Formats: sequence, structure tokens, C-alpha cells
Amino acid sequence: MSTNNPIRVVSPSEVVINNKVYIRVTSHLVLSAHLNAANNLFGGLLVQWADECAGIYVMEILKTHHVVTKKISEVLFNEPAKLGDVLEFLCCVKSVGKTSITVECVTRAKQIDTEDRLRTILNCDLVFVKIDKFGRSTHHNFVLEES
Ligand SMILES: CC(C)(COP(=O)(O)OP(=O)(O)OC[C@H]1O[C@@H](n2cnc3c(N)ncnc32)[C@H](O)[C@@H]1OP(=O)(O)O)[C@@H](O)C(=O)NCCC(=O)NCCS
Repeated sequence: MSTNNPIRVVSPSEVVINNKVYIRVTSHLVLSAHLNAANNLFGGLLVQWADECAGIYVMEILKTHHVVTKKISEVLFNEPAKLGDVLEFLCCVKSVGKTSITVECVTRAKQIDTEDRLRTILNCDLVFVKIDKFGRSTHHNFVLEES
């Protein structure tokens, strides 16, 4: 086997934007049932999907489903999503506290058959808190690795 051209294996779920590494956590296809009266994706549903995506991401990190959303920051809807768009939901850890983790979520949309461009349609930060069996905040003991 030739060693001249080593193959660099990159995780298919990693996406680099402006030198920041995000993990592609979930995807959704925009169907007609998801549209509002202006024929755009309903914003509330998009926020729900972002919350779900970031929640899964945090649950994977902390290896527990005992987490709740404490805060969703200002939500920027940069561009509308349209029928048939494939959406990808990307997350990265922004900061880590004792009981909380703040996650940045970016959503990008692509119209598969007519364009190659990925449109960034949503940006927001979400704070998740680990809870104990009584629903009280509890230490998660997660430490962010130095990069
Ligand atoms: C999450 C919950 C248990 C936290 O209760 P609390 O009294 O705020 O707990 P604490 O004061 O210990 O704060 C917990 C963490 O939230 C952070 N926090 C509290 N208020 C915050 C705010 N306004 N913005 C950002 N973070 C905040 C704290 O800094 C702390 O993080 P840290 O330990 O990493 O520093 C409680 O608010 C709750 O149950 N909320 C409802 C959650 C929910 O139902 N979400 C929707 C469905 S998942």
C-alpha cells in the first residue's frame, strides 16, 4: 500500500465555520405541514428543532437525559427556509459552568436540486442545566478540553 497519499479521516459530523468546529447533530426536511401563511418555515418550529438538537448534544456530552433548557438567547432568523429545504443543525459548546452548559446552535438550509449554497437561517445560544431526581440543578462535572 502506498504511503505517499495518506488519507485523513475527518468525522463526517464535524463542520468548520470561521475556524470554529461544530457537530452536525440533527437534520430535518421542510414539508408543507411545517410552513406558515407566508409559505416560509414556521419560526416556532425552527426554534423547537434547535432546542431539540442542542438538548441531544448536551445529553450526549453529559451522558444523561436529566437536563433542561434554562434559557434560549436572542434568536436570529437570518433567511427564510422554504418547502423542500434540507436543514442541518450544528452545535458547539460556548461555555461551561458548574451545573450549566451554554451551546451555540447554527441552522443551515439547502435546496438540494437547485443550489449548492448553504444558507445560515438561524443562530442562537441555549443554556442547559443538569438536574437531579428532584428537578434541582446539580453539578455535571464536565470540563471543556483545552484546544
Ligand atoms: C433549571 C432549574 C432547575 C434551575 O433552577 P435555578 O434556581 O435557576 O438554579 P441555579 O440558581 O442553581 O442555576 C442553575 C444554573 O443556571 C444558570 N442560570 C440561572 N439563571 C440564568 C440565566 N438567566 N441565564 C443563564 N444562566 C442562568 C446558573 O448560572 C447556573 O449555572 P452554573 O451552575 O453553571 O453557574 C429551574 O430554573 C427549572 O426547573 N426551570 C425550568 C426548566 C424547564 O422546564 N425547561 C423547559 C423544558 S426542558
